[in-house]
Amino acid sequence: MRVLILGATGKIGRLVLERALADGHDVVALVREAAPLELRERLTVVNGSIADATVVRGALERSSAVIAALGPRSNTVEDELALEVGMRNLTAAMEAAGVDRLIALSGAAVAVPGDRKPFLDQLASVLVRRFARHVVGAKQREYEVFSATALDWTALRPPLVIDGPPKGYRLTSRLKFGARVSRTDVAHALVDQLVDTRFRRAAPFVLPKDRP
Ligand SMILES: NC(=O)c1ccc[n+]([C@@H]2O[C@H](COP(=O)([O-])OP(=O)(O)OC[C@H]3O[C@@H](n4cnc5c(N)ncnc54)[C@H](OP(=O)(O)O)[C@@H]3O)[C@@H](O)[C@H]2O)c1
Repeated sequence: MRVLILGATGKIGRLVLERALADGHDVVALVREAAPLELRERLTVVNGSIADATVVRGALERSSAVIAALGPRSNTVEDELALEVGMRNLTAAMEAAGVDRLIALSGAAVAVPGDRKPFLDQLASVLVRRFARHVVGAKQREYEVFSATALDWTALRPPLVIDGPPKGYRLTSRLKFGARVSRTDVAHALVDQLVDTRFRRAAPFVLPKDRP
């Protein structure tokens, strides 16, 4: 499958890129700064801004799905708004091109209708929102944008992410207080969604797999 990846220069996005290539997908990476990406077979790098609707439309050409692994580089209102604009450009381009499948990296602090977070998790979300207001705000705005479309979206909501090897993950509607999940597992979960149809128009949490 040909997949457009946004945020491919980020800590999680880089792992998404590697996993997508390893799974045999053709990848298009739309990046502001191409230098950090090593060129190789089945990878096309498009240099440009998500703020530019024409660039986003061009990058999307011939792709069948999108993985958006964006995250604000700073906890500022400018970065928060930039991600909202980027998501608006992306979803408009997808609708115009008839590309339906959108897989988005979100976060556990993002509020989704129907959430039943345990009290301690609600408290944790309040604290995260307080100290990383615009980071969570950016993810919340992204969610509001794509969830209002008719696209076939899935948003994955990891709690705290850490470095480390893949240990296996599970997708669930129940958050577990204090859970941490590796960036590698989050990246695998995002790429696996290209062929998983169980979480359409849903925003499950990504937790480490339970030990037997
Ligand atoms: N850390 C956690 O515990 C945690 C937990 C749950 C969810 N998350 C979410 O996951 C997100 C991504 O995490 P990460 O560690 O991979 O972030 P990261 O390393 O900061 O990467 C962010 C990516 O987004 C891109 N980006 C940011 N603003 C952009 C803009 N205006 N236009 C185009 N590209 C832009 C960056 O591109 P450049 O390289 O060009 O800057 C980079 O590729 C976080 O922001 C957070 O919302 C994090």
